[in-house]
Amino acid sequence: MAPIPSSEHPAVETYLAEGYHRVVGMSSRFAAAVCTRLLRLQTAEGVTGPVAEIGTFEGRFFIALAHALEPGEVALAIDVFEWPDTGVKERFEANLLTHGIAPERRVTIKADAGTMAPAELLGHAGGRKLRLVHIDGDHSRTALTKDLELATACLSDGGLIVLDDMLHPGYPTLAVAVQNYLERHPEIVPLCIIDRETIVAAAKFVLCHRSWFERYQTRLLDIFKEQIWPLGADFEPHWCPVLSLDTRLADIT
Ligand SMILES: C[S@@+](CC[C@H](N)C(=O)[O-])C[C@H]1O[C@@H](n2cnc3c(N)ncnc32)[C@H](O)[C@@H]1O
Repeated sequence: MAPIPSSEHPAVETYLAEGYHRVVGMSSRFAAAVCTRLLRLQTAEGVTGPVAEIGTFEGRFFIALAHALEPGEVALAIDVFEWPDTGVKERFEANLLTHGIAPERRVTIKADAGTMAPAELLGHAGGRKLRLVHIDGDHSRTALTKDLELATACLSDGGLIVLDDMLHPGYPTLAVAVQNYLERHPEIVPLCIIDRETIVAAAKFVLCHRSWFERYQTRLLDIFKEQIWPLGADFEPHWCPVLSLDTRLADIT
């Protein structure tokens, strides 16, 4: 098995090692390490600004993102905060305090992302466009389509959209929504796929502007060289890397 890559953020490393699995949630630790390393890459490329997550639940993935921010950047947490009970918002905010995210570094937004206008979301970030949006809210095709449009409208140049539960056996139609979205938005392409760890900690797609793909991909192939699955992903005709902890190919001899 390949190692989990370093995020290159000391605070993220501590949280991933000691806190991540103590916060109730679903996203994989591998994906959190990759996404926070991508935030570091963005910073090196001059891409800065706020991040957002649609569907924060109790904060497992969100805390990792927030720890990877640069001084002055904020993380926006959007959730209806009603599932599985109304105490989830309180648990979310308590988890953030326990794991070192001060209140001024995040904005909690109790809302239905499906009815949110881009101006409203950007208003929570002082008008600054977002450098990363993690979409992990309502898992219907219609909702993902709306969340993708919201994220795209709010994305900064060089920004990343991360989609959770891609290729999950329980949500087979989500990939259809993504494919339709990519056809409507030729300016956006998949940057990489982050393979699943388990059926719960499912795969994520990372999307970026087409104009940034080559630049990001060159760096990504080097940063994650131990986690590159050799064949990559074929989006017909676009190709992008697949990052996995299991980089074996089928044994055909
Ligand atoms: C799978 S959980 C998210 C897991 C979380 N990202 C983690 O890292 O553990 C999905 C979350 O999406 C939220 N959600 C569902 N529909 C939503 C909507 N329309 N707007 C905002 N949040 C929504 C749910 O309340 C739930 O907390």
